[in-house]
Amino acid sequence: MESSPPPPPPHALVIPYPAQGHVISLMELSHRLVDRGFVVTFVNTDFDHARVVASLPGPRPRTGPTPLRLVSIPDGLEPCADRNDIKRLTLAVQEYMPECLEELLMRAASEGSPVTCVIADHCMAWALDVAKKMGLRAAAFSTASASMLVMALSIPKMIDDGTIGDDGVPTEPNRMIRLSPEMPPMNTTHVWWNRFGDPSTNRVLFDYITRGNKSIDTAAEWVLCNSFSHVESSIFKYASIVRPIGPLLPGVRPGRPVGRYWPEDSSCEEWLDKQPPKSVVYVAFGSFTVFDPRQFQELALGLELMGQRFLWVVRPDVTEKMNRAFPRGFEERVAGRGRMVGWSPQQRVLAHPSVACFMSHCGWNSTMEGVTNGVPFLCWPYFADQFLNESYICDSWKIGLRLCKDVEGIVTKEEIEAKVEALLSDGEVVGRALELKEMAAMSISEGGSSYDNFNEFVDSMKTFV
Ligand code: UDX
Repeated sequence: MESSPPPPPPHALVIPYPAQGHVISLMELSHRLVDRGFVVTFVNTDFDHARVVASLPGPRPRTGPTPLRLVSIPDGLEPCADRNDIKRLTLAVQEYMPECLEELLMRAASEGSPVTCVIADHCMAWALDVAKKMGLRAAAFSTASASMLVMALSIPKMIDDGTIGDDGVPTEPNRMIRLSPEMPPMNTTHVWWNRFGDPSTNRVLFDYITRGNKSIDTAAEWVLCNSFSHVESSIFKYASIVRPIGPLLPGVRPGRPVGRYWPEDSSCEEWLDKQPPKSVVYVAFGSFTVFDPRQFQELALGLELMGQRFLWVVRPDVTEKMNRAFPRGFEERVAGRGRMVGWSPQQRVLAHPSVACFMSHCGWNSTMEGVTNGVPFLCWPYFADQFLNESYICDSWKIGLRLCKDVEGIVTKEEIEAKVEALLSDGEVVGRALELKEMAAMSISEGGSSYDNFNEFVDSMKTFV
C-alpha cells in the first residue's frame, strides 16, 4: 500500500518594524520557528533587506528553497530618504506596505507555498488585518517590554480616566499612575508614545499605535512578547492575553543571519580576552541614539576620566551630521585601555567574563541581553520606551544606576566617573543582577514559563495546516 505524502510544513510570514532592535528580535524568533519545523518568510523593507544581506558573513545565502527565506517589499520612501525620521517612515509604512504585503501573500499561494500564519511586530499591527482579510491565522509579537505593550493597549482606559488627552499627551506631567492596583507605579512622563522628540512625531506615533490596538484586538489570536514572567509579573497578571516567550537571545547561532544592519567588528572579542575579569565598561546605545557633538565629546572625556577599561560602540551615525570627532588626543591617551568599534557582537560581548557593566540607552533588547548575562547597568535613555525600561532597571529590579543630566541637559564627565565607581563598588546591585540572570535562564529552560508559552504557541500554530 502506498503511504500518503507528508503534509507540508507550517509556513509563517514574519514582519518586523524597520528598525534594528525589531529586526534582530524577530529574526531570532524566526530561527526558533525553523528549529520547530516551520518554513519562515522574513519580510524586511527593501532598504533594510539590502543592509541585512550585505552584513551577512561569508557567501551570500542560497536562493533556492531554504527554511528561512529573506524577502523584501518597499517601505514607500525614496531610496535616499532618512530612515531615522520615524515620523516619515511610519507614515509611509502604513500607507504603502499593506498592499505590497497582500501581493506577496497572494504570490506565495500561487507559487504553491502558501503562508499559514502571519507573525507581525506589534508596531506593524496593520499586517494582522491583512492576514485576517486573507483568512490566515495571526499573532502579534512585541519586541519591547510587556509594560510598553500593555500601556499602549490601555490607551482608551487612560483617555477615559483623564490620564492622557485624546492626543495622547499626559494631562499632568510627572504624576505617578497605576494601570491596575497590583502594578508598580509609572510616571506619566514615561508614556512612551510621547517621547519621540517633537509633538508632531509624537502625534503620528500615537495615532499609529491607536490604530494598531484595534488590529490586535480584532485579528491577533496570540499576543507575545520578548520578556519573562519574573521581571514583569504584575503586567502578566493584569493582561493575561500577553504571553512572554523571552528572553530571546540573538546571535548565538553560527552561520545563520542575525538581521544586523552593520558588519560586526569581532576583533573586540580578542581584545576582551586579554582584559582581566570584570574590568571592562561596555558602552553601547543601540541603533537609533544620536548624540549632539558636545555630549559626544563629554562622554569621551568621561570614559577617559573614569580610568577603567572600556569598549565603546561608536556607530558611523552616532552623532548629528555624522560628526564623530573625538576630543583632541583622546585616542592616544586611552590607547590600551579603551577600544572603539563601529558595531559589536553585543550578545557575545555581554557574555564575556571581562565585562563588568553596561552603559546603555536601555533599549529593550539591550536590557534583556544585559539581564540574561547578569550585567549591571548605567542607564542613559534616549527616547520612547527607554525611560520606562530605565525605571525597571533602577527602581524595580535595582540592578543599575541612572546617569543624570546637569542643568544644561548634559551628562558630565564627572557624573560618568562617579556613577561608574558607585556601580562597580556596589556588591548588592551586582548580586541582584546575577540573581536575575538565573531567573531569565529558568524561564527559557524546560518547564519555565517562557518555554511553555512558546511550545503552546508553536503547537497551536501548527494546527489547521
Ligand atoms: C529600538 C528602540 O530604541 C528600543 O527602545 C526598543 O525597545 C526596540 O527598538 P534599539 O535602539 O536598536 O531598538 O535598541 P535595542 O532594543 O537595545 O536593540 C539593539 C540591538 O542591536 C540589540 O539586539 C543589540 O544586541 C544589537 N547591537 C547593538 C549589536 O549587536 N551591536 C552593537 O554594537 C549594538
